[in-house]
Amino acid sequence: MKNDCCAIILAAGKGTRMKSEKPKVLAEILFKPMVGYVVEAVRKAGVEEICAVTGFMSQQVEEYLDTLGNICYAHQTEQKGTGHAVMMARTFLEEHKGGNVLVICGDTPFMTANTIRHALEQHKSEGNAVTVVTAQVENPSGYGRIVRNAAGISKIVEQKDATVSQLQIHEINSGTYWFQIDALLQMLDQLTTSNAQQEYYLTDTVDLALKQGWYVGGYTACTPDIILGANSRKDLHQLSEKMRQKVLDRLFDEGVEIPCTDGILVSPDAKVGADTVLLPGTILKENVVIGKHCVIGPNSLIQNSTLGDRVTFNASQCYDSVIHSDVGIGPFCHIRPNSEIKSFVHIGDFVEVKNSVVGEGTGISHLTYVGDSDVGQNVNFGCGCVTVNYDGVHKNRCTIGNGAFIGCNTNLVAPVTVGDNAYIGAGSTITDAVPEEGLGIARARQINIEGFAAKKLAGRKLKYHPDEK
Ligand code: UD1
Ligand code: CA
Repeated sequence: MKNDCCAIILAAGKGTRMKSEKPKVLAEILFKPMVGYVVEAVRKAGVEEICAVTGFMSQQVEEYLDTLGNICYAHQTEQKGTGHAVMMARTFLEEHKGGNVLVICGDTPFMTANTIRHALEQHKSEGNAVTVVTAQVENPSGYGRIVRNAAGISKIVEQKDATVSQLQIHEINSGTYWFQIDALLQMLDQLTTSNAQQEYYLTDTVDLALKQGWYVGGYTACTPDIILGANSRKDLHQLSEKMRQKVLDRLFDEGVEIPCTDGILVSPDAKVGADTVLLPGTILKENVVIGKHCVIGPNSLIQNSTLGDRVTFNASQCYDSVIHSDVGIGPFCHIRPNSEIKSFVHIGDFVEVKNSVVGEGTGISHLTYVGDSDVGQNVNFGCGCVTVNYDGVHKNRCTIGNGAFIGCNTNLVAPVTVGDNAYIGAGSTITDAVPEEGLGIARARQINIEGFAAKKLAGRKLKYHPDEK
């Protein structure tokens, strides 16, 4: 697609029926705002120059769109209709005179790049001033109806303005259009609010174009899915389910094994290797890459992280981290941001790792916290170890050398270094460097007092008396 094309995304509406403090276009489907899907489809269709019309909670909407990069904004303070919204982008349109503009709603997450592209092809080949993307739907209620005569589309009538017979029409306006920009600019000046909703309807451009003697076309999408939007929470749930199934179908095609789909929510951008098994309750949020032959779940959450091949990730959570191949995690582990878990590591139950590197072959089997640490290869953590990384003011790092053996219930008070192949006695609170191959032991020496307990506990009452009848 050539660069004579640009797009206006309408994203100023409130979405009252969602009963949300968020603007509607930011309502999420599988962890991604609806308008994010729209931007993706527009870009995939080859349209680079995008202007979003924002209004209701524009700051929030723009903050999100900024994360997608290279989008400019036009502001619509009062929502006076879709035509009015496009008027707000007049400067953008003037900058692109001579070309074509796609106008698309920010709340139609199932719109596809193919539909956009095919509609443009038709728009150009027919020399249309306006090409409306339409769909045949079973239930047209709420949508603008496409009125046709022998010559083609004659107008679009909104539900609230339609006659009884027009209400019977099942071809509806998707809210997506291609316009010749020069024609659109002229028509924007002619829109009025003489309709049931007293709004400037963008749909009136059809009628206006025909009056000018220009061509108007309708591109009927091959599936009515492209028009799906959400006006309520229930709609949103249904869209999520539909998107979820679409993602699952893709994963099946790619060789992912999912014995039961219960509670499996996978972001559309997730990549999962063949022969990996996803068990119930697995949630893969945005930006997740998982290798082959892994077993993920049950009941696991992974976000913005990469896992290698043959990783077992059982009932655990992982954020903003990298886990290399042949690693076993869980059950009940928390891998917090900025961690790198190298190959052949085993991390067992009730272990938290944060902002740390864990070297190859290291074992952290139970009840341990490793934070702000650089851990070498083949280190063994006993049960219940803690890197004491926070002194109440500063975070400090621990460095643990290759092959070190950290006895059970050790505290490593950071900043502290444990040398290669060093040994730490169980129950130690280590505050000073432990030398390579040395022993660090930091606890009171044991003393025994004969007969102490017998005196101290004399007369105590026991709940269970094995000798009593
Ligand atoms: C519009 C179409 C209707 C079509 C339907 C498809 C008009 C007059 N009607 O109706 O034919 O079937 O979309 O969904 O265009 N918006 C603004 N500013 C406004 C009004 C709306 O930015 O002043 C944005 C909304 O955020 C939304 C989009 O435009 O993304 C569509 O608005 P909406 O109110 O849903 O339009 P409909 O009445 O559904
Ligand atoms: Ca709508």
